Amino acid sequence: MTDKPKKFSKARWGILRDTLLEQRSSAHKHSGVTRRPTGAFGLVKTEVVVTSEVDKNSHLIDYVYDNIEVRLRQRKDDAFVLDDFKISNEHKIDNTGVICLWPAEEALTHFCVKNSHIFRDKRVLELGAGVGLAGIALAAMGIAKEVVLTDGNPTCVDVLQENLERNNAKYGRTMTRAEVLHWDRIATGSTKYDVIIAADCTFFKDFHGALARSIHQLLAPRGEVYMLNPSRSGSVERFTRCTN
Ligand SMILES: C[S@@+](CC[C@H](N)C(=O)[O-])C[C@H]1O[C@@H](n2cnc3c(N)ncnc32)[C@H](O)[C@@H]1O
Repeated sequence: MTDKPKKFSKARWGILRDTLLEQRSSAHKHSGVTRRPTGAFGLVKTEVVVTSEVDKNSHLIDYVYDNIEVRLRQRKDDAFVLDDFKISNEHKIDNTGVICLWPAEEALTHFCVKNSHIFRDKRVLELGAGVGLAGIALAAMGIAKEVVLTDGNPTCVDVLQENLERNNAKYGRTMTRAEVLHWDRIATGSTKYDVIIAADCTFFKDFHGALARSIHQLLAPRGEVYMLNPSRSGSVERFTRCTN
């Protein structure tokens, strides 16, 4: 018998607790201060777009990088959606990708745009894509053969699909799609990719083994992997050790 379910629920309760505490403390801040600022490194110019099509928990943000411009729907900083926790429990997945875009995704976007040669004519897979800035910006460069955005959280995948469709006119010859891909459940004989990218996906050490195995299984021979992760108390180092 494993203690994994306990660890999952402990992690999820931790996220719920942090969200509630952050909401309480942000009530004292003025409205211009965000919980986790989008564009934390200032690498990608961002602008919140207010339109009538967005519900009370989401807004649209324009991300502009060099000549790449994409519009993404994402959660407002003060949104709190109980359904997120229900889906987390049902699918045994955290909701960190639902609640915001993390700084590592912005850094990954910068990397992809500045190193476009890596992706030319390649089949690219983004793991744990959240709202999908890096993958969608890459698709909008129109140089890759295919960009597939994945996440283990079905709510993220709905948002990824919607964000892909929202920017559909920009992909040129690059094919795109979004799909659920849980690192614990990779089917044998899955499609292989030339390049795998991921941002901030090593924070839960319980998933390190599954993530490493997924990469091993999904990477084509001579393929390349680019992961940008904050250290988060040594989690990157622990992940690196488990890949040896
Ligand atoms: C910290 S978020 C990063 C999201 C996005 N890359 C960003 O930086 O904004 C981690 C992402 O990994 C996904 N994830 C966590 N565990 C996973 C698993 N076992 N299988 C697939 N995706 C997972 C989460 O749903 C989430 O979207």
